Amino acid sequence: MTTSAPANQAAMTKDTFPINGTDYVELYVGNARQAAIFYQSAMGFQPLAYAGLSTGLRDRESYVVVQDKIRLVLTSPLKPGTEIGRLHDKHGDTVRAVALWVDDAAAAFRTAVERGAEPFFEPKREEDDHGHTMRAAIKTYGDTIHVFVERKDYEGPFLPGFVAWEPEYRPESVGLKYIDHMVGNVEEGKMNFWVNWYQEVMGFHQLVSFDDKDISTKYTALMSKVMSNGNGRIKFPINEPAPGLKKSQIDEYLEFHDGPGIQHIAVATDNIIETVTALRSRGIEFLRVPTTYYDELLDRVGEIDEEVAPLRELGILVDRDDEGYLLQIFTKPVQVRPTVFFEIIQRKGATSFGKGNFKALFEAIEREQELRGTL
Ligand code: FE2
Repeated sequence: MTTSAPANQAAMTKDTFPINGTDYVELYVGNARQAAIFYQSAMGFQPLAYAGLSTGLRDRESYVVVQDKIRLVLTSPLKPGTEIGRLHDKHGDTVRAVALWVDDAAAAFRTAVERGAEPFFEPKREEDDHGHTMRAAIKTYGDTIHVFVERKDYEGPFLPGFVAWEPEYRPESVGLKYIDHMVGNVEEGKMNFWVNWYQEVMGFHQLVSFDDKDISTKYTALMSKVMSNGNGRIKFPINEPAPGLKKSQIDEYLEFHDGPGIQHIAVATDNIIETVTALRSRGIEFLRVPTTYYDELLDRVGEIDEEVAPLRELGILVDRDDEGYLLQIFTKPVQVRPTVFFEIIQRKGATSFGKGNFKALFEAIEREQELRGTL
């Protein structure tokens, strides 16, 4: 493992691209109404807002769900021939937009474009009875976009054009708090291009770099670099496939997603045992590592606050770095294509991403890939 551009170097220089946090993540899905019920019933989100036929839209419908600081927008087309439909046909259910909360959307857009970003839409003011927002957007890898959202003058449920969505059904939260990181998969040879892009365009710095010797199994290998913004609230690891004996999980993603995009959304909890117990009972399926993983667990990571038995029972993984440890687990893909999945993570001091688990994890993924006929 090599460390480059240490975090304190970034902290000493002025943040040239201030971002307050993730604002929302928009997914294009086959059936937004049903997806919204899935995110509520299985993953503990609450209904928040709606835009569609009954608010005057004719071409699409969006449902917004929320859990603590995490907002997901689920969007489907209402007729053939739309851009949303075209992208959904190409990618399957996919993350279209990673929206970032900023104080000045026009300034963020201007800065990004001056530094080489390709515009997606120019700054626009949107308003309704609850106030106004400013939004602008740029393109990143694949068909993914970053939307800059300025909402200090807005008091409505989500964004202008959306109305409160208040169905009777309100299942309990599972304790998900905020988005910890979002990982992108890009084509072989493109990782460094996007690393430089986030550095140059958005003032991000690199946290840690792995090489393919760090992340490889008998069959597959990948390379990954983690980009983070000035205040550390946004973390975007970027993966590319490395040549292996067989098709890596990144290759499989790129094939089924038909190009680069967001691979997983990592969401944080304060109590991973409770959260995963609830998710499992509500139908979420997780990747499992062999139970032998737990035989050497404490030798590998040292003392931890949790009992090993429930971790073993639930399949929760543990890793340690210089600053502490973390607990994590990965869902199976949440749509028919083997593309987007979620990670549940609880940090106890550790600021890394679970490198010590990658080998056990990738072997678990390979067993799933074999079942899918990819390997
Ligand atoms: Fe992750």
